[in-house]
Amino acid sequence: MKSNSLYSLLRLGVALLAVSTFTVAAQDNTTAAAGKTITVGLAQTGAESAWRTANTDSMKSEAEKRGIVLKFADGQGKQENQIRAVRAFIAQDVDVIVIDPIVDTGWEPVLREAKEAGIPVIISDRTVQVSDPTLYKCFIGSDFKKEGRMVADWLIKKTGGKGRILEIQGTTGSAPANDRHDAFIAEISKYPEMKIIDSQSGDFRREGGKEVMEAFLKKYGHDFDIVYSHNDDMALGAIQAIQEAGLKPGQDVIIVSIDGIKEALQAVAAGQINCVVECNPLSGPKVYDAVAKIVAGQPVPRVAYNKDELFDITNAAAALPTRQY
Ligand code: AHR
Repeated sequence: MKSNSLYSLLRLGVALLAVSTFTVAAQDNTTAAAGKTITVGLAQTGAESAWRTANTDSMKSEAEKRGIVLKFADGQGKQENQIRAVRAFIAQDVDVIVIDPIVDTGWEPVLREAKEAGIPVIISDRTVQVSDPTLYKCFIGSDFKKEGRMVADWLIKKTGGKGRILEIQGTTGSAPANDRHDAFIAEISKYPEMKIIDSQSGDFRREGGKEVMEAFLKKYGHDFDIVYSHNDDMALGAIQAIQEAGLKPGQDVIIVSIDGIKEALQAVAAGQINCVVECNPLSGPKVYDAVAKIVAGQPVPRVAYNKDELFDITNAAAALPTRQY
């Protein structure tokens, strides 16, 4: 399970270099339930959205609650930062590594390094494409394809399968952008009068959504019916652009989105967003349950999907008082 000392020294060098470019914070509360302190390294994507902030908060607060030492690395939107963080965690010999992968390819070499060092990896939130399934233990997160299907089915029901759609995509090459697009297209392509007329990436950021929407409005005027945004932050940015163009979001334009942050549910209740499909970011409890099992040598399910709900004008207001993020 452990490497020889020369290799360990080399890896420690890599780690020290890497750590200087990240926020790596270990909490002090180190009492593990089973008597052994568990150390987890989390390679987070960054802080691109309110969803991501809620996800990071859940991972940090739940670690503290359970007495798990969490080494947190903010990838700042770059896969190379995340890969460097994972190498630092390997060199620090953490018990388990958790990765929220920005994009879904390019992980195989570093996952192999973790496997060779005997450190189990949990893939959280976004999936990865690997040829060898033994490179990670399990995936915990939402089913992005199902989310794309749920949005499409709601739209088909609402419009009778008609409409010119502008799509604001998430980060290019990320699993949620790929899956939410592919599954949505698969559903709407059964309806010849419903099509995506343009697609641009807003990188899951609010300003990104606003910029993309401004460009769409310049190009198409009001010659479209629907905006499909891959997340709530971009939908909220798009709403701003739509209002600035003198249109009424939710009335002149149907707006559909994914995530279910409180601000988006408020917009649904106010009639500005028409439908939001949830993507639950509160991963802490599920991820650390899996960590505890893995450390104890117990099996974990290969894939554990969240149960995500759909909100529209019929149920958004009722959900607001208990909304946690
Ligand atoms: O991977 C989940 C996506 O990433 C969320 O939909 C988005 O808001 C986040 O940034």
